[in-house]
Amino acid sequence: MIGYKFMGKAHSNAYRNLPFFFDLNVVPVMKAISGRNETKVKEAAQAFGWESYETDWRKLIERDDIDMIDIATPNNMHYEMAIAAAKAGKHIICEKPLAMNTRQAKEMYDAACKSGSIHMICHNYRFAPAVQFAKRLIEQNRLGKINHVRGTYLQDVYLDTEAPITWRTRKEITGLGVLGDIGSHNLDLARFLVGEFQEVAALTETFVNQRPAAEFENQNEADKKQMEDVTVEDAAALIARFENGAIGTFEATKLAGGNLNGNRFEINGEKGSIRWDLENLNNLEVYFTDDEPGIRGYRTINCTEKYHPYAEAYWPVGHIIGYEHTFINLLSDFFNGIEQGVSPRPNFEDGLRNQILLESIEESVAKKVWINVSEKSNSISIKE
Ligand SMILES: NC(=O)c1ccc[n+]([C@@H]2O[C@H](COP(=O)([O-])OP(=O)(O)OC[C@H]3O[C@@H](n4cnc5c(N)ncnc54)[C@H](O)[C@@H]3O)[C@@H](O)[C@H]2O)c1
Repeated sequence: MIGYKFMGKAHSNAYRNLPFFFDLNVVPVMKAISGRNETKVKEAAQAFGWESYETDWRKLIERDDIDMIDIATPNNMHYEMAIAAAKAGKHIICEKPLAMNTRQAKEMYDAACKSGSIHMICHNYRFAPAVQFAKRLIEQNRLGKINHVRGTYLQDVYLDTEAPITWRTRKEITGLGVLGDIGSHNLDLARFLVGEFQEVAALTETFVNQRPAAEFENQNEADKKQMEDVTVEDAAALIARFENGAIGTFEATKLAGGNLNGNRFEINGEKGSIRWDLENLNNLEVYFTDDEPGIRGYRTINCTEKYHPYAEAYWPVGHIIGYEHTFINLLSDFFNGIEQGVSPRPNFEDGLRNQILLESIEESVAKKVWINVSEKSNSISIKE
């Protein structure tokens, strides 16, 4: 694994606990973790349970005792690392967004397909049992024809104007701002549950244009007192039409006061509706139009029963799971995929489709016009 901070810790926890909950024929062995700072990566290796560490990620790729690479670094590093891993024939887990642009994402997808690597992108929210159950209800046509999709990913960390510059506010490292960072998850959920986007129109805003340069890695004392430009959007809104005729509205922002990590969706069909909120991730709210008049309304399903995907791997009914289990569920699919020789969803194809969508949104913002996402996707050869 490359990277040892937020996602490094979340993924390490998932590797450690995966065999504890899932009975798999292919199991992870935590061979080595990589980071540039030797003291810190050594500490991380010990704390998270890795056998060894490397200060140059390329060494991981060269090692014969390593069969898979997990990329948990900032977005601008994904491309180079994934291409190198694919060329070396390693299986790959890559964090989202897949790349900095569509060209990179396509090359990564092609390289992984060519080498026969098993690949997945870490859109972990698909793996909440409630979200998987929502997918099942939609596949069973319990909602009927879908008319509306409403997706929001709301945080409020940037309301604090003293919150410092990080790699997430620097365009050359992050690519897109909130759109890539949190919006990409919500857009992936819409693709997963409803289908492909046909066209989008969007706007973005940067409400806080400068932030203290403090806390950015490799800073010097003088830099700490500097203000630095924020070079990406900190809020975005878009409207969309789906290929199946549904229409959607989406919002991603880090200035929505009172929202800590509000990744939410509501989907309305002719026969029913569903809604979900990450901050209450075990529950799916469901409404059916054919319920008895007078007691019709949203009901709450606690998705911890055997009917709900992945739930049986954990505790007796009603004994809820958390954020970290979404990564464990995703990895269970990944290791089963290695055994079966298939790249489970969401894989690099989903990463590429998400990137095309993000690039379409960017283009819509720049040109102030609708952009046809289907045309863009069709012009790029993506194997089914
Ligand atoms: N799936 C999710 O829910 C989720 C949540 C947060 C972040 N992410 C994604 O995960 C990735 C990492 O984000 P994070 O929050 O863990 O960031 P972070 O800043 O917490 O950690 C980044 C890590 O990458 C290391 N790193 C940076 N440049 C490197 C290089 N050149 N070589 C080796 N290591 C390098 C840093 O030292 C650090 O250990 C990003 O792509 C981000 O979008 C996904």
